[in-house]
Amino acid sequence: MKAVYTKEFGGAENLEIRKVENPSKPQGKEVLVAVKAAALNRADILQRQGFYPAPKGFPERILGLEFAGEVAEIGAAVTDYKIGDRVFGITAGGAQAEFLLTEESVLAKIPDNLSFTEAAAVPEAFITAHDAIFTLGNLQENETLLIHAVGSGVGLAALQLAKAKNIKTIGTSRTAEKLSKCDEFGLDFGIVTETDAVEANPPALAEIVKHHNGGKGADVILDLVGAKYFAANLESLNQKGRLILVGLTSGRTAEFNLGLALQKRAKIIGTVLRSRSTEEKAEATRKFTEEVLPLLTAGKVKPNLDKVFSVEDVKQAHEYLESNASFGKVVLEL
Ligand SMILES: NC(=O)c1ccc[n+]([C@@H]2O[C@H](COP(=O)([O-])OP(=O)(O)OC[C@H]3O[C@@H](n4cnc5c(N)ncnc54)[C@H](OP(=O)(O)O)[C@@H]3O)[C@@H](O)[C@H]2O)c1
Repeated sequence: MKAVYTKEFGGAENLEIRKVENPSKPQGKEVLVAVKAAALNRADILQRQGFYPAPKGFPERILGLEFAGEVAEIGAAVTDYKIGDRVFGITAGGAQAEFLLTEESVLAKIPDNLSFTEAAAVPEAFITAHDAIFTLGNLQENETLLIHAVGSGVGLAALQLAKAKNIKTIGTSRTAEKLSKCDEFGLDFGIVTETDAVEANPPALAEIVKHHNGGKGADVILDLVGAKYFAANLESLNQKGRLILVGLTSGRTAEFNLGLALQKRAKIIGTVLRSRSTEEKAEATRKFTEEVLPLLTAGKVKPNLDKVFSVEDVKQAHEYLESNASFGKVVLEL
């Protein structure tokens, strides 16, 4: 089969489409998926650069954490899927290939109103966002959610999921253009941030948040940016606020006032999806199936599909994602 392969760890020029061995035949509860489309993630870039090795049992050099495709073969103990079903889901690697061997517990059925390409833009962003704001963040309907990098794949998913429950949202981006595009998703208030300025003056962000939130901080902060916003996040949280740390695009080291965490009785929760066990991924997928799929089916939330590349153009797709120009997801068609 053909697969996106990292020849050497480093820049995007090291990516190639290579013929590799097909996965083995599915056993037990395993399912072989013929992948039709697979989205990119920042983790692919880090893995390509050699900074984020694949978990044990997953390919070191074949990228891909999410996919949409058709069931090609099933193991003898599979109960919920048959050959030909349209499925999508997350995995810990190897999804950017013609075939992927996975477990039925981490699959979901693609709603009829979505193409494979649209569906490929969904799993990682929506499972991460749903898990972060609702499962970990316990976000309630009368609360306020602050989303950093709201125009990202995960950010737009969180925005849509919160607005589907009519929850008040505040979002940040370094570009006003991305924030204005968030209007159609119902963003209540957008803040254009310059990360160095936020780092230099953490209370400034909190003042803006409070000004637009009846004098209170945010109840849940979904942070996809990391170091540079960490101190400002503690300033911007409401009493008993929850800070969910999901991404570290601006760095991993920060200096901050721990006293604020105590005074506010704040919860600071870090999370990662890729290295979770299959059982934990299955649990997050089950919640996604129960709570997000009906919204997708009804068109109340939609895939945040920004740009589609042929898998042959994977280098350009990586460069595009790395440029920070994307608004939502970048998808490869196989
Ligand atoms: N923990 C997990 O399980 C998990 C799962 C999925 C994703 N993630 C992480 O979550 C983050 C978002 O993922 P995604 O796929 O939604 O990303 P994405 O669509 O690629 O968007 C990332 C956005 O982050 C902003 N950004 C990049 N560098 C920045 C910097 N130095 N300072 C401030 N903002 C910066 C940019 O938005 P603006 O141009 O609007 O500022 C960029 O468009 C990534 O770090 C990713 O690795 C984690």
